[in-house]
Amino acid sequence: MSKKANILIFDSGVGGLSVYKEIAKRFPQLDYLYLFDNEAYPYGELDRDILISRVDALVGYFVEQYQIDLVVIACNTASTIVLPTLRSHLSIPVVGVVPAIKPASSLANKAIGLIATPATVTREYTHELIRDFAQNKPVEMLGSTRLVDMAEEKLRGHPINHVELKRILSSINNKIDVAVLGCTHFPLIKEEIQSVLGQQVLLVDSGEAIARRVGELLNMESQSESVGQRVIYASAPPWEERALNKALNELGFSSIQKCPLVI
Ligand code: DGL
Repeated sequence: MSKKANILIFDSGVGGLSVYKEIAKRFPQLDYLYLFDNEAYPYGELDRDILISRVDALVGYFVEQYQIDLVVIACNTASTIVLPTLRSHLSIPVVGVVPAIKPASSLANKAIGLIATPATVTREYTHELIRDFAQNKPVEMLGSTRLVDMAEEKLRGHPINHVELKRILSSINNKIDVAVLGCTHFPLIKEEIQSVLGQQVLLVDSGEAIARRVGELLNMESQSESVGQRVIYASAPPWEERALNKALNELGFSSIQKCPLVI
């Protein structure tokens, strides 16, 4: 691709920023538009038909209005159900993020922990991934919206409560040697999760693999000479907007703009 690509990164909240960071680290020269559907957050508790129609409408609108070249659905909860619909409506590449069960299974000796949203752990897509790629290793599943909230809070400057985190992770703690961070919010609280599970547990997420896939699809090498534009839109006024904007500005984004499409 000769012209500078414009990438749309989509999530329900700030989790997709963990994927953005991996992509932008390799390809800082691209233009990034980040859209989060906080109006319907958390996706992990949203009705699946509503989720599909919201993502389809929002992403379709942005692709048309902002000349997007490639879409990254930086949300496991959405990717496990919306990709076929999006791909049937869009003529540009759509990259999804799904739990990294396959790489985790080659790294695990004992058991794999899948930490995700309540929806992701029940999805047929996730169960198929486990059937096809877990190589008969036991998979302990943990679905938690509170963990997603904690990542949202951290980005707004609130410290993570270690005791609460330990209680949430207690059902998988000491049972696994590899943990899949199956929600894009969780790399944002990776150190805290690691400190509860212990250094012997390997944490795996899909961020790097997604960045590689974007490079393949755009036929691009890693480059660091120039920096493109970073713009961010939300579907509703975010809570603690000022604190959030501070964190976003540090990542190179302009302050949050209101998504023009109301659904
Ligand atoms: N970041 C999202 C994911 O990867 C979803 C969080 C939510 O809205 O529940 O699953």
